[in-house]
Amino acid sequence: MRRWILSAAVAVVLAVPGVALAQSPIVIKFSHVVANDTPKGKGALKFKELAEKYTDGKVKVEVYPNSSLFKDKEEIEALQLGSVQMLAPSTAKFAPLGVKEFEALDLPWLFADEATYTKAVKGEIGKWLFNKLEAKGILGLAYWDNGFHMVSSNRPLVNPPDFQGLKMRISGSKIADQYFRVLGTIPQIMAFSEVYQALQTGVVDGCENTPSNYLTQKFDEVQKHITVSYHAHLQYAVIVNSQFWSGLPADIRTQLNKAMDEATDYTNSIAVKENEDALAELKQKGKTTLHYLTPEQRKAWQQAMAPTYQWSKGRVGQEVLDLISKNLDIKTN
Ligand code: LMR
Repeated sequence: MRRWILSAAVAVVLAVPGVALAQSPIVIKFSHVVANDTPKGKGALKFKELAEKYTDGKVKVEVYPNSSLFKDKEEIEALQLGSVQMLAPSTAKFAPLGVKEFEALDLPWLFADEATYTKAVKGEIGKWLFNKLEAKGILGLAYWDNGFHMVSSNRPLVNPPDFQGLKMRISGSKIADQYFRVLGTIPQIMAFSEVYQALQTGVVDGCENTPSNYLTQKFDEVQKHITVSYHAHLQYAVIVNSQFWSGLPADIRTQLNKAMDEATDYTNSIAVKENEDALAELKQKGKTTLHYLTPEQRKAWQQAMAPTYQWSKGRVGQEVLDLISKNLDIKTN
């Protein structure tokens, strides 16, 4: 009897217009480590805007920038455990996911220009790497660009011997570890959120990053010299937990894919300009001295870092190197 009254009461509530119980939205927590005012930061906010619009509010995207929810290593673990649903780490940080092959993209002087980079990730190489991820329960949705790395310290880094003995912060890739090691430095992996203080207190002497990250993290205020070397490339892969993604209603997933495709086009269309503007602002701020390499100096850097290629075989495997050689028409060994 009691149960009957209760069911009747529920039926009445549901039948009254306007009293229908609102379904709570699906929440996507999107964690990342950079500032909002960067290509990735803007891309994440664009995805939020479009995802919420296309799903008519059925999906709510919560963006957590600047390591405000998790730092680099923790956010990868959180994705695997399901406490966040979306990330866009630099591909240099993918070894803990069991896919060291992504580090091939960190090879020094690999991409001659932005067009070559785009060709790589949009084509066979990008797809092959995403296939590797799937076996780990992670789905790669898109590649987001953030341009080329510069390098800095409190002494000018113009010729390869200038690096000797410096402690360099790296973000995670063993390929970066290797190219800094062959220059005679001591590389050290460190979370992005800790870099400013480590530079300020001398825990490390130098680092590498793109202009947008130097500017928004104020690294120029704790580094006397930056070399606009563009010796390696920084890209992100937007990733989700496969189980979460495949568990979404099909129509929602379609709308989210559309939002992601458009957010990706947007991010990739602003990345170069954002970094050019950031470089101009670093110059204008004048807190650091910018150095540019002559063609001879660049050649000397390339030669000094070249042993990284031979070494990389043991780290990333021959298959991805062959794929790169074939697709980009370059020699990787
Ligand atoms: C870094 O840790 O240096 C970068 O990968 C941060 C980022 O996400 O751009």
